[in-house]
Amino acid sequence: MKIAVVGSGGREHVIASCIRKNPQVEKIYVLPGNIGMEDVAIPVNISALDFPSILKFCLDEKIDYVVVGQDDPLANGLVDLLEEHSIPCFGPNKKAAQIEASKIFAQRLMEKYDIPTAKFEVFEKYEDAKKYLESASFPQVIKADGLALGKGVIIANNLQEGLQAIKSMMLDAKFGQAGNKIVIEEFLTGPEVSVLTFCDGKTILPMISSMDHKRAYDNNKGPNTGGMGTISPNPCYTKEIEEYCKKNIIDKTLYALNQEGIKFKGCLYFSLMLTPLGPKVIEYNSRFGDPEAQVVLPLLKNDLLDVMQHVSNETLNQVNLKFKNEYACCVILASKGYPDSYQKGYLIDLNGLKNVYFSGVSKKDGKLVTNGGRVLGIVNFGKSLQEAISNTYKDVRKISCENLFYRKDIGKSGIDFIKGEN
Ligand code: AMP
Ligand code: GLY
Repeated sequence: MKIAVVGSGGREHVIASCIRKNPQVEKIYVLPGNIGMEDVAIPVNISALDFPSILKFCLDEKIDYVVVGQDDPLANGLVDLLEEHSIPCFGPNKKAAQIEASKIFAQRLMEKYDIPTAKFEVFEKYEDAKKYLESASFPQVIKADGLALGKGVIIANNLQEGLQAIKSMMLDAKFGQAGNKIVIEEFLTGPEVSVLTFCDGKTILPMISSMDHKRAYDNNKGPNTGGMGTISPNPCYTKEIEEYCKKNIIDKTLYALNQEGIKFKGCLYFSLMLTPLGPKVIEYNSRFGDPEAQVVLPLLKNDLLDVMQHVSNETLNQVNLKFKNEYACCVILASKGYPDSYQKGYLIDLNGLKNVYFSGVSKKDGKLVTNGGRVLGIVNFGKSLQEAISNTYKDVRKISCENLFYRKDIGKSGIDFIKGEN
């Protein structure tokens, strides 16, 4: 079989690595991918948003199966286009991808079907949002409606920060059209859990839980990023909480989508917060998390391509997901300055390290150099969470590159939780 994976980050690298294990797979292309993925796939210089070129490539190369990893091609209807040409693929169609692409859509869905989430208000005019903030208590959470690379959420601690946030989104178009409309939400507290699921529109199967670290710096300081590191499983997601969430959030979301005439086929990702008043949905994503996929997929015992094909064929009820009884940890190395502006082109020396998922890299004079915000994801495993974390940081310290930084506390809150329980 010939496979194409659409996207360019660490998530697409781990997806390609897992698919590679299927003996029927002959070739994997990543569009556009990056040079670091060459161990498992062939990068093809076609942008994930260049739909005519993607279609032509799939038809010319007789691609048997396409996995769309990234959010924006999903939101813009790549799956719809491929399906029109009878090319089997993994990922939701445009209508279903709205659950991520519009925060307003997602909040209204949850409100209508009584799925626990933050209290919220929608604003289409700056003046209305300003008036609302002027009489609000803080913190308030301000979110651009559309896709913003995981950076469209601002937690405003006071009125001044709130006004600055709505100005940047609604008047200065910091996130382009994504910020024309906004949601202002109640500020929730508690540990965060990411639950990725496989969903074929009829059956929804949760994968092992994970924990992302969204803020740029240690102790959850600094701006929101796409994610600076992950652990899996997430110790805070106890059996009891898992059962509650399956019934009251995960199954209910599938029901809600079906009631709305939406068939979601792909990876539906639940970002949850375990608040003192119970678990609540922070947001949905319509694809694997990055860097959640880097810890969850290597723990999956099933053949990934086989599970994905069951999703496409709507036969997920025949699948029994199994995960290794281990912990995984991923630490992201990012360019100094990320998620704001940063420089590229710095030499990276991996010192022989192999357990690396590549995102923002390229080659200069035959040597690996930085080429993006998030650059590398180092993943390692252990029988305990502490062992997985120690093994990962041991590897991280082997890498030399003068312009990279990383968080030193990935998984620490998970360890603290385990200690607090004993
Ligand atoms: P999102 O892109 O919606 O997942 O938001 C990014 C991050 O902002 C989340 O992982 C949370 O850490 C934080 N966040 C989002 N919504 C809220 C909320 N209502 N209360 C507190 N923190 C939030
Ligand atoms: N790591 C968060 C995300 O993929 O949205």
